[in-house]
Amino acid sequence: MKGLILSGGRGTRLRPITFTSAKQLVPVANKAILFYGIEALAASGIREIGIVVGDTRQEIREAVGDGSRFGVSVTYIEQEAPLGLAHAVLISEPFLGTDPFCMYLGDNLILEKLAPLVERFREEKPNSQILLARVPNPSQFGVAELRDGQVVRLIEKPRTPPSDLALVGVYMFDASIFRAVKAITPSARGELEITDAIQWLIDAGQVVRPHVIEGWWKDTGRLEDLLEANRIILDTLLPRSDGAVTDSEILGKVVVEPGARILKSTLRGPAIIGKGAVIENAYVGPFTSIGDGVTVRGSEVEHSILLEGSSVVDVGARIESSLIGRNASIYRTVAKPRSFNFMLGDRSEVGLI
Ligand code: DAU
Repeated sequence: MKGLILSGGRGTRLRPITFTSAKQLVPVANKAILFYGIEALAASGIREIGIVVGDTRQEIREAVGDGSRFGVSVTYIEQEAPLGLAHAVLISEPFLGTDPFCMYLGDNLILEKLAPLVERFREEKPNSQILLARVPNPSQFGVAELRDGQVVRLIEKPRTPPSDLALVGVYMFDASIFRAVKAITPSARGELEITDAIQWLIDAGQVVRPHVIEGWWKDTGRLEDLLEANRIILDTLLPRSDGAVTDSEILGKVVVEPGARILKSTLRGPAIIGKGAVIENAYVGPFTSIGDGVTVRGSEVEHSILLEGSSVVDVGARIESSLIGRNASIYRTVAKPRSFNFMLGDRSEVGLI
């Protein structure tokens, strides 16, 4: 069985971060979202993974390399434009051949273990296995209608959803999916939808098995989802302190990576402090991921993600529910007149009190 991870597309909902970086590489608990998917496939015994890449190909290649670090071999598949999930499958046929495969959307995070599901798919050989999760906002997803435990209908982002069962971004297929992706036509949003391809399988009498997951799942396309994912994953980490901690208090689950320096500060977990970060005269509160080389000095940060190299210095109020981009800096100006000084990228957001 092979793996196919979709890591093309454009992360419009996470701009400005995704102007300069792939949405699949935004870290959750200091690890790129994409890496969780690669690890889940590797843990299911899959050794050959194709990664579909688009505009951000260079960055994804640099981050993942040949896959050896994950114990897998990675083949990159170029998609000329984000023409849809089914289009990504279509162009991956030369890589996938006639092998069954597990397709994983590179911006999805799933806590449930994949291995038993992959194992069952291998043994029972349905044509497709889809994962479903109950959500409060089904119209933002592909939605399934079940009757007597069988899938009868799938619709992509319906205005009036027939159920609260959303399609999770992990799918398993055999080679019959290629007939489906070749038969369908683009949707109203101009994409070849995998949802339509699976509906085609159902209409053609193929076996599409649903599995409703109980555990937690997130499509990390929006900031609030990203922060929630960060919250949940941080809570699963085992605390350890490999940095230099001086005159500070560490409470709850906190991971301090090697080379980090904590001085005269309070860290309240769950939280992670990346390699070489400096936390001084500061408070880092629950559900915060501090990236490598970040500085937090004379400031308070909580429920936030601070990316590599960013800094927060002498901010007089607490920063909360925020995503701070790579090498971005927030600091107090001393010059008179007292004023706000900004240099913000396109589509940045600043909430003032
Ligand atoms: O997250 C689950 C949802 O994912 C499902 O419920 C929907 O049925 C499914 O269509 C999909 O919806 P999204 O609109 O959220 O998909 P998105 O455009 O965010 O793409 C998902 C991933 O696939 C993302 O990592 C980008 C990548 N991608 C996307 C497209 C359209 C590609 O690699 N190529 C593409 O052409």
